Formats: sequence, C-alpha cells, structure tokens
Amino acid sequence: MKIMKYINLIVIMAAIAAIVSCQPQDKKSTAQNEKNTANIPNRKWWKEAVVYQIYPRSFKDSNGDGIGDLKGIISKLNYVKSLGVNVIWLNPIFASPNRDNGYDISNYRKIMKQFGNMNDFDTLVSEIHRHGLKLILDLVVNHTSNEHRWFKQSRSSRNNPYRNYYHWWPAERGKPPKRYSYFDVDHNAWKYDSTTNAYYLHYFGTFQPDLNWENPKVRQAIYKIMRFWLNKGIDGFRMDVIPFIAKDTTFPKMPAKYHGNWAHFYANGPHLHEYLKEMNKEVLSKYPNIMTVAEGAGVTSNEVLKFINPSRHELNMLYNFEAIHLGMNPETDHKVGPKRFNLVTFKEIYTKWDSVIDDKGWGTIWLGNHDTPRMVTHWGNDTPKFRAISSKMLTTFLMTMHATPFYYNGDELGMTNIKFDSIKDYRDVATLHAYQHLKETGGNLKKFLNREKLIARDNSRTPFQWDTTRNAGFTTGHPWIKVNPNYKTINVETEERNPNSVLNYFKKIIRLRKKNLILIYGKYTLLDKDNPDVYAYTRELNGKKDLVLLNFTTHKAQAKLSFDMGKARLLIDNYSTVPDANAIKTFTLRPYEAAVFELR
Ligand code: NOJ
Repeated sequence: MKIMKYINLIVIMAAIAAIVSCQPQDKKSTAQNEKNTANIPNRKWWKEAVVYQIYPRSFKDSNGDGIGDLKGIISKLNYVKSLGVNVIWLNPIFASPNRDNGYDISNYRKIMKQFGNMNDFDTLVSEIHRHGLKLILDLVVNHTSNEHRWFKQSRSSRNNPYRNYYHWWPAERGKPPKRYSYFDVDHNAWKYDSTTNAYYLHYFGTFQPDLNWENPKVRQAIYKIMRFWLNKGIDGFRMDVIPFIAKDTTFPKMPAKYHGNWAHFYANGPHLHEYLKEMNKEVLSKYPNIMTVAEGAGVTSNEVLKFINPSRHELNMLYNFEAIHLGMNPETDHKVGPKRFNLVTFKEIYTKWDSVIDDKGWGTIWLGNHDTPRMVTHWGNDTPKFRAISSKMLTTFLMTMHATPFYYNGDELGMTNIKFDSIKDYRDVATLHAYQHLKETGGNLKKFLNREKLIARDNSRTPFQWDTTRNAGFTTGHPWIKVNPNYKTINVETEERNPNSVLNYFKKIIRLRKKNLILIYGKYTLLDKDNPDVYAYTRELNGKKDLVLLNFTTHKAQAKLSFDMGKARLLIDNYSTVPDANAIKTFTLRPYEAAVFELR
C-alpha cells in the first residue's frame, strides 16, 4: 500500500516536472513558428486542423431513449473543446430508416428523428462555432435509402420522371452483368423489382439504391442539397464513397486489369472527375473557406492527385485506404499485438502516399473510424499491460505525420473492441448478413464470430465512455448497443483526473502539434526503413528538424540512426519517465515507446 502511494507520488511529481519544463519551450517554439510562417506556402486552416469524428448514435443521449442525439452532443462541446481539436465530423444525421445507421437517407433536408430536429441542428451549429470549432457533415450521395421519395417514384413505373434517378436493368434483357454488393447475404448488387420487371443497382445494401449521376437532374438536385447545408453555416463535407458515384451505364464485365478488386473498379467510373469538377464549380467554389474530404475507398496512390491537386479544382483531401486493410489477414487477425501486420509494409505505404502527394496536394492520416475496429485493438495492443502505452504511441504517429489527422471519438481514451461472443449482440447489417450467408452455406460460424471480435464495425460503435455510472454515463435508458464493460476504468472522468492518462497525453500532443509547425508542414523523411520494429522519421522545415521514433512492439527495440543526440531536446515521450541518456544516444526504445525530439 505504502509502496503504491510512493509510486503515485513519483508519477505525479514527474508529470508536474514535465509540465513545468514544457512551458519555456512552448513560448520559444511559438516565437520560432512566427518567424517560420513566412516561408510556408499555401497555408490553410484545414491543413492545420485536427478533425474529431463523432458517431452521434453513440456519443451522448440526452433524452433516455438509448440513442445518442444532437442535444447530447451540444451538452458535451466543452469536452470536445478541451481536447484541442478544431473540427467535428458528424456521421449522417439525416432522416433515415437506419438500416445502415444513417448511411441510408430518406430525406436529405430533415434531421433523423432519434437525433432531434432542425432547431437542435441550428443550435448545434451556432454552439460549435461559439466554441471556436468547425463542423463538417457526411454527404452520402452515391446512394439513398429505398424509402427516399425519389426511389419510391422511380420504382413505381418505367415512365416516371424519377425513373432515371437510379440505375435500372430491364429484365427482358436477361440477367444484368455481375456487380458485387458489400452488405447483402448473396453480395449481388442487382435487386429484382417485380413492380416494373427490372433490376436496380445497389453497391451496398438492397435498401441503398445507387443514384444515377449520369443524369444531370440528379447532380443538380444534389448540389441544391449541398447548398442548403452550406447556407446553414457548416464548414464542409466528408464525402461518403464519393469515388463510386460514376458508372459506365452499359455495365460491361469488370476488366481484367482490376484483378477482381471491386472497390478499385467502382472508384474509376468514366466521368467521375467531370462530376467533381462540376460540383466544385457549382457549389464548393462559392464557399471558399470550407473543407472537403473524400472517403477514398478503392483509390490508389496513382489516382489520389486527380482528386486533390488544387489546380484541378475538385476536392481538398482524400483518405488513404491502402494501409487500413493491413492486419485483416484471416490467418493472423484473431491475434492481438505486433505480429498482426508487417510494419515495413505499413511504413512503405504511408511513405509512398506522402511522396506522391508531396507539395502537390494535402494528405490525411487516420487509424480508426466507425467502419474499423478500435485503433488500439487493431494497430496497438489492448491487453491491460500495453493498452495505454500503445494507444499513446499510435496517437503520436497520427499527430506527427505530414497530413491532417482524423481522430475517432473514444480513441483518445484508449477505448477497445468490445468483442461480442454472440451474434445477438451485433447490430451492424454487414456482420448480420455475413453471418446469415455463412449459416446458409454451412460455413464455420465459430471461426467467423472469433474473427468479428477483431474486425467487426460494431466494435468501434459502442457507447462513448463518460464516467463510472450506469451505462458509462451515455444514457439513462437502455443503450441501442451494449456498453463495453471496461468503462469502469476507461472513461473521461477517471482519465481527466490522471495526468498520465491516454486522454491527457492526447491533449498534450495536440498542443505540441499546434505550436510546432514543423509537425504540420515539415517535410517527412522515412529513416531505417527495413527496421521491422521501429517507425522512425524526421520532419523538417526551414532548417529545423524533428525526429519521431515509434516502437510498435512489446519489447525493447532500437533504430539504426546516426544523429548526434547530444544536443537533442525531447519534445514529448509517452512514458511518464524520460528515457535515459544512453537510450537516447543509442535510439533504444522501451515497449511501444514514442518519442519526439528536436534535433539541433
Ligand atoms: C462508408 C461508410 O463509412 C459506411 O459506414 C457505410 O456503411 C458505407 N459507406 C455505405 O454508405
């Protein structure tokens, strides 16, 4: 007991020392930054921002119905502000039957009833702005809900004026050419509709028919919706599967060059960039201070600049999906920890994207969202011994890369996968339909459930963990999906009190990034690229250089580098005790250690 108290005291003293020793550095680096800004071309607020993604359904419930809502978000803006982030991205908040949690929209100009109403939305926008934050909304326009008025009209007869708002294949032409759907039991993207004896196209669920962007009326209708929300004062859009919107309406067989990769094929529709240019001309360019980010599924590094090179007048940023599938290997994805993906490949991918984008555009960096497992479970290590330290290490990676970080709510607490044992606990259509498919085809259900513990989307959709009260303070009612039982220790209230928590580290490193323009604009150079354990890189701006060292393993690891560390200054370290001089000199890192140095 006495020993514990003693250790606690040391930890607190170390934290105070770290805070005190940081202050003069902060002042100094602000001054340096001011001097350096003159030489930074094309500065933009969204390049300097940290985007915080809120999954509204699971963030905070204000009325006890078990579902998060807009009033709940409003009540927590002080918390969001306290993080130091700048932009809130909200997953879809529009009227929806919710078969895919809002990614099936039935009315683009209405707020989902479970989330509130338009008055709540207007209050939310003004409150977000009053807090000095910005708001971007999810633009879901590859598809609508099948309950959208347009689709109800479209399916009603072949002559309906809305018929061409969607893609139809008349059954008298025989079966349509194969297209893959992501969420269906049989993965067939054509659904037969007897009303007009025709098939309609849907890349996701049968309840999500794809809009026909080849029809100019559809495009104009979408632009109007975009103006509607921009005129309400929002600050931009995250564009859901936007690379998939354009289709070759002759529906040829997928060309062999795509090697069976549906996402890549879908992301290369014939008139895609004409549409994005048109959208830019008609809408985005009229709101010069907004930001746009494409969900980049299916887009490779060869194609990214087509979306984001400013001279093309399309979008500002695009997520890199290439690395996100690493560690999804069925042979290893039931394992937690460093063996799940190859760090050398991971580094290669991020380095390739950085060099392709270079100064011809601007990148994004992210490791988790509502479609992926929890960051720490997937990329770090969620065992009690390493959860906190590996969360902090991953956060260090996100906050020191040459790109805008997109950070998912709850990762700042080190929230982990819930790992449901029973299919009954799942809510996500993707998991439920995949399970049903296996059941129908006699697949191995046990193996499937084990795998879902690691990769299912519901793992990151469980309620946000506010405190130690019932349901983690998320709702007074019955939550729409189970709360992770670890909320008793992983929650905001507990972590705010602990100077060494994952949460307080997140706040600290955001402050460091903000004050240190090198970490935002500085040139990125990968070092010791074949090192299987350590990710090491420098960031360089106007003659100043920072060194980032990240150990992705459970053991001590060393980088092979040759800097003289005699005069290096430690800017941040995820351990509560600073590394000893010898470790610094030899670039030796403790398990999952992350350290950032200013080289001099
Ligand atoms: C990507 C979204 O992030 C995901 O949640 C959704 O299910 C699909 N697009 C379909 O809209």
